[in-house]
Amino acid sequence: MKDILTLGIETSCDETSVAVVKNGREILSNIIDTQIPIHEKYGGVVPEIASRNHIEAISRVFKKALETANVSMQDITAITPTYGPGLVGALLVGLSYAKALSLANNIPLVGVNHIQGHIAANYITYKELEPPFLCVMMSGGNTGIVHVKDYTTFEMLGKTRDDAIGEAFDKVARVVGLGYPGGPKIDKLAKEGKPNIELPKTHFDNLDFSFSGIKTAVINLHHKMPDINKADLCASFEKTVTEILIENVKKAIKLTNLNTIVLAGGVSANSYIRQEFLNLKEKGIKVYMPDMKLCTDNAAMIASAGYYNYIAGRRDNLDLNAVPNLKL
Ligand code: KG4
Repeated sequence: MKDILTLGIETSCDETSVAVVKNGREILSNIIDTQIPIHEKYGGVVPEIASRNHIEAISRVFKKALETANVSMQDITAITPTYGPGLVGALLVGLSYAKALSLANNIPLVGVNHIQGHIAANYITYKELEPPFLCVMMSGGNTGIVHVKDYTTFEMLGKTRDDAIGEAFDKVARVVGLGYPGGPKIDKLAKEGKPNIELPKTHFDNLDFSFSGIKTAVINLHHKMPDINKADLCASFEKTVTEILIENVKKAIKLTNLNTIVLAGGVSANSYIRQEFLNLKEKGIKVYMPDMKLCTDNAAMIASAGYYNYIAGRRDNLDLNAVPNLKL
């Protein structure tokens, strides 16, 4: 059978990325141009600045992706851009570029949900991984437990009622003075601390999450006790959010009888969270997590999800629009 090459295009937030992936699992190229240094001085992503920088970067990143993969547009089977969720102006840059490529080269356009992309990062890391499984989605914009029924069918079993987990990491980091992006900085500092500060957990009867209570508790503690040990605070925050995640995962396992857990999203790069999930293996649970460089936004994961959408028969027209709050 002829190889299927998908061209993934990702511009939903602050990474401009283009990738070529073979048969959904093999990366031929994955070029990522990050804007983190540009947004760092504002303490977070500034949407208008993100859009402008995507425009500046996209052609260069696209050319490099083809060059590195050593392919031309004639070799590409489908063009698979992220069309949501994300920042609307940022999404529109990648989506418009994808539409132009599709029209000019007469190649099918296949839209990809960014969250589906984060899940697919695992298909690249583990060639043998197949649905069904439970996915713990933990990114900067989304948090929840997803029942992945097959490659393109998902059921959200529980989601955050307020902040996404990455948002909580970033806000805590900003308040304690670590800067943006907060997740990796908390990860590093927490290693020097002890998780000896009690922080609140919000429980629900279903599989929903809440991270605003713990975030506010950390911020209040820091304001009331300016001399508090920051490393201990970070370690305690990390430990408590991990407990919140794992408690809900255990409920999801009971509910579905599935015992394969797959992590996804930027926060799955957190070393403490990774270790605590790996410890679940001792209980007979199968645990998968993306390669570190595929945890945060990249176009290879989008091209992988695009491959599965393509073989499931999805085709989009040029009227495909950016959907900032797209659901799975
Ligand atoms: O998945 P992602 O790249 O963007 C979205 O699609 O939302 O996730 C970005 C989030 C940010 O909140 C960042 O602080 C967090 O992932 N993150 C981490 C780590 N690396 C990135 N959080 C905790 N520990 C890390 N090592």
